[in-house]
Amino acid sequence: MLRAVDLQARPGETVAVIGSTGAGKTTLVNLVPRMFDVTAGEVRVGGVDVRRLAPEVLWAQLGLVPQKAFLFTGTVASNLRYGKPDATDEELWSALEIAQARDFVEAMPDGLEAHIEQGGSNVSGGQRQRLAIARAVVRRPSLYLFDDAFSALDVATDARLRAALKPVTREATVVVVAQRVATIREADRIVVLEDGAVVGAGTHDELAADCATYQEILTSQGIAAVEGAPS
Ligand SMILES: Nc1ncnc2c1ncn2[C@@H]1O[C@H](COP(=O)(O)OP(=O)(O)OP(=O)(O)O)[C@@H](O)[C@H]1O
Ligand SMILES: [Mg+2]
Repeated sequence: MLRAVDLQARPGETVAVIGSTGAGKTTLVNLVPRMFDVTAGEVRVGGVDVRRLAPEVLWAQLGLVPQKAFLFTGTVASNLRYGKPDATDEELWSALEIAQARDFVEAMPDGLEAHIEQGGSNVSGGQRQRLAIARAVVRRPSLYLFDDAFSALDVATDARLRAALKPVTREATVVVVAQRVATIREADRIVVLEDGAVVGAGTHDELAADCATYQEILTSQGIAAVEGAPS
């Protein structure tokens, strides 16, 4: 259960959510596409309560990459076109490139037309994640929700992917849930969740200076809380 969560993300902003397992990050993200609704308070997209938006209007704005990336039986292309049926092959390759998925799709027999098995069981977890990211990018949504979508990527791929996303998401609102500080330290704002409540919000430097929970996360990841301080 989430309590007293007050969180705003504007177009052009990246807001990150960090916190230990079970803190409520996925619960928070899932309120936006209305996997379930709040029992008190409200969630607004574009200033409108999500409960008042027609589902197709809400969905058209969202690019959700869930924590457990899901692929459908079909092809790479049919999975990527899920949110934009008329996307051209060029648009698909561009999204794959941004998602750091171009190389492995090119290496698959049949490329874009490569077969994807039920649940994506014939690609690795990290490949599945990148295809799910590409699927969101194809739609060019105004609100991206990445729920731990970079967790199966190595640090270098994670960094390349975030750099490639930057120009694409410049005018969008981006919410990034992550466990790894490196993934979110550049965010405009970082929200620290603990047991369903916000225990800190600010930039990396602000939180490193004054949020005990964030400091614990830094320590657990071998990062000095204050630059230059002995850890
Ligand atoms: N389907 C569910 N039914 C009941 N309780 C749930 C359900 N999913 C999650 N919870 C509970 O809600 C709380 C928050 O879970 P949530 O999945 O939002 O955490 P999280 O921060 O995303 O964790 P993780 O880092 O492991 O993904 C936890 O205490 C969890 O046990
Ligand atoms: Mg989660």
